[in-house]
Amino acid sequence: MDPKDKQEYEGEVFFPSPEIVAAAHVQDREALYRRSIEDPQSYWAERAEELEWFQKWDQVLDESNPPFFQWFVGGKTNIVHNAVDRHLKTYRKNKLALIWEGEPGDVRTYSYFALNREVCRFANVLRSMGVHKGDIVTIYMPRIPEQVIAMLACAKIGAVHSVVYGGFSVESLAERIEDAQSRILITADGGWLRGKVVDLKGIADEAIARQATIEHVIVVKRTGQEIYMESGRDYWYHDLMALPVSNHSCRTEEMDAEDPLFILYTSGTTGRPKGILHTHGGYMVYVHTTLKDVFDLKDEDRYWCAADPGWITGHSYIVYAPLLNGSTLFLYEGAPTHPYPNRWWQIVEKYGITILYTAPTAIRGLMRFGDAWARRHDLSSLRLLGSVGEPINPEAWKWYHNVIGGGRCPIMDTWWQTETGGFMISPTPDTPLKPGSATRPLFGIDADVVDEAGKPVQPGEEGFLVIRRPWPGMLRTIHKDPERYKEQYWGRYGNMYLAGDSARKDRDGYIWVIGRIDDVIKVSGYRLGTAEVESALVSHAAVAEAAVIGLPHELKGNAIFAYVLLRAGIEKSDTLSEDLRNHVAHEMGPIAKPETITFVDSLPKTRSGKIMRRVLKARALGLPEGDISTMEE
Ligand code: WT7
Repeated sequence: MDPKDKQEYEGEVFFPSPEIVAAAHVQDREALYRRSIEDPQSYWAERAEELEWFQKWDQVLDESNPPFFQWFVGGKTNIVHNAVDRHLKTYRKNKLALIWEGEPGDVRTYSYFALNREVCRFANVLRSMGVHKGDIVTIYMPRIPEQVIAMLACAKIGAVHSVVYGGFSVESLAERIEDAQSRILITADGGWLRGKVVDLKGIADEAIARQATIEHVIVVKRTGQEIYMESGRDYWYHDLMALPVSNHSCRTEEMDAEDPLFILYTSGTTGRPKGILHTHGGYMVYVHTTLKDVFDLKDEDRYWCAADPGWITGHSYIVYAPLLNGSTLFLYEGAPTHPYPNRWWQIVEKYGITILYTAPTAIRGLMRFGDAWARRHDLSSLRLLGSVGEPINPEAWKWYHNVIGGGRCPIMDTWWQTETGGFMISPTPDTPLKPGSATRPLFGIDADVVDEAGKPVQPGEEGFLVIRRPWPGMLRTIHKDPERYKEQYWGRYGNMYLAGDSARKDRDGYIWVIGRIDDVIKVSGYRLGTAEVESALVSHAAVAEAAVIGLPHELKGNAIFAYVLLRAGIEKSDTLSEDLRNHVAHEMGPIAKPETITFVDSLPKTRSGKIMRRVLKARALGLPEGDISTMEE
């Protein structure tokens, strides 16, 4: 980092120990950063050489049709070749790729050899069911090894996976299957969460009944309770894996660098979730290098990203990047506080976890139980900590740093998005840290904070967070909606990517992300669109109109508050309010359940009929309503 004197930094700063700095992969970040920005193409070409290609690219970056940028054009590879196959030629064949623990305490481990075998077998099953290169397969599963195996098996044969987070519910799943036009759904009978079974198959059945594309469902037996299996449509995973087709070797499909790897749906400003599309080549290079640089992976590490594979954090930094780096990753099925609030600390001790990467909401949730639960366990194996999903409040940062990290582990506060594919603004282990700031842009990333006109704002001033040039891990488009891609991210400035966050930059060049500037609410770090929650509310027979806002919440960061106008003749009541909250949970999933429902007689609207959510928000917070000149009478 900057060879600055300690006294020269503005605000509260934590300096990493000389031992950590000396041992880090990244040395002299400042000089490397400058080089990467002066000549990004040679920087990225060099980083791409760290991985194997069936055929080398002709062109690092094709900028001829912005914002439809292409990376490593003409190159041929497959992310699974680099994440799994290539390790089998080395000692890593016998190294643990995956250590998994279920919530009830059952354990499974896979060496790279075993992981490859399972991926090959399942890839053969998928091929035998007629899954071809380019087909989109939907995966809706609990956090179990088969979720990872299913993703890798798809990628191996060139199919595109669309993973729907297992915490989503009927309408969210149906809508995503429909948009992707998937013929195949991979799911499980259930998953364990807080001692209870999540009825994934039941939710899947209801979702399938709402759309017409699914022909076959593959069901992993996890919890073993009685479920409905439709003859000719539904097959048990273990039955398919017992067929002769599921043999142990399977050819890895040669993919063009720009061939799609996956679609992942995320919430935006308008109603329908956007299918964010990532590719084999650029995404592979980007997640491989960013994880290596930021979490400083060493061969002996045991790395735990406590997210769900169903989110981008899980795609990039549970599944692909750790395996690309030949690391040992840990996956846990259940909730952090079940049966007791020491569950995670018990796991860190039991498996000797060295790197823990989680979200501020989880840290705050565990902090609330006090220090004693963590202090009961030996957490000395930890070397680095990470945070993602929303700004981390300094109080939680310090607790994480002192109580979990024993004051010795730097915290990598990584700012990024589903769209960016990987970390964009983040410390590396040598970076002086400021609690609450993701610090500075990573190599090759030209991030800035600008005003309406696109001019950089003064230090300390709030503005829009933008990225000035393409990077290999960026989304390529929105599935089936290239216009929306162009408009949403590049529409405002033309030559800069608009992240949708507001931020400040301090005098040391540190970026402080404030929050979303659009109608996206970050609830416990999960991204939800107000329009999706509103449409779930309006799908209830009692509701005429609904408006949803996010308000600050101690544990969740933000929580959802709903304002509902009932249909004529319907009486408001506590029972109805409860019913509406449960309805949203049933349609979208428990994370979208509103904190409260407020019944109103009218909603503030513009004369053109748009709901003025900012007015509702100002009223709820007791703040001035601002400019209401466009409000209808
Ligand atoms: C939004 C993207 C990418 C992983 C999970 C979230 C917020 C993310 C940080 C951070 C402050 C953060 C932003 C961003 N965000 N990380 N370290 N500090 N804010 O992915 O669901 O696509 O959400 O999460 O608002 O735009 P996502």
